[in-house]
Amino acid sequence: MRKPIIAGNWKMYKTLSQAVEFVQEVKTSIPESTKVDAVICAPALFLPSLVKEAEGSALEIGAQTMHFENEGAFTGEISPAQLEDLKVNYVILGHSERREYNNETDESVNKKVHAAFEHGMTPIICVGETLDDREKSHTMVKVSSQVGAALKGLTKDQVAKTVIAYEPIWAIGTGKTATSEDANTVCEGIRKTVADIAGEEAAEAVRIQYGGSVKPANIKELLSMEHIDGALVGGASLEPDSYLQLLEAGA
Ligand code: G3H
Repeated sequence: MRKPIIAGNWKMYKTLSQAVEFVQEVKTSIPESTKVDAVICAPALFLPSLVKEAEGSALEIGAQTMHFENEGAFTGEISPAQLEDLKVNYVILGHSERREYNNETDESVNKKVHAAFEHGMTPIICVGETLDDREKSHTMVKVSSQVGAALKGLTKDQVAKTVIAYEPIWAIGTGKTATSEDANTVCEGIRKTVADIAGEEAAEAVRIQYGGSVKPANIKELLSMEHIDGALVGGASLEPDSYLQLLEAGA
């Protein structure tokens, strides 16, 4: 059985005080018996405070991106070693917004995935097709090639520990969600791709999230699908109430 993982991606929202307030409220409301991995991926600026605030609770803190080098002349970047030092457990890699605006490529995502494992972090690897890909029936070709590129050179054990977030780009922040059946079909395809790369055992273990306009009203149905093991949530992860409802749906 795969443990569901509900990760909030706050993108470039909130101030530090709002972020700390959120964690204070949410950490006391997550039952100790929670059956989901609860993660918030916050802006890098907030990470030291939020890790401290969440310590000892069931809430885990992740980053939204990182460089693959440990140090160097890369103005504005954050390194895997810096995140490890802060005790950050998760890092989102290859989000479509980073691929579009910050030049993240399949190749750099792969280097970052390796760096995440070297520094004890779980990568949440984002893949997904554009509307144009979907209309041309290229969804699976696009997504499989992104998965293959991201997992290149990993051990089977590392692949098994990876989280893959399937996020159709046309569904992000648009209010349009893929139907749960469609999302499940693509997630099943991703699992097959993982099996081809790393074998059945790793494919059975890898957790695949759906992302794109997930909210309390649709999460239960998405999570009821065989190949969907959680959600990567933007807008609906910003308010404690809504985030807690998402966690409850996964439990
Ligand atoms: O990482 C999260 C996704 O981009 C989805 O964002 O839930 O606001 O559509 P959204």
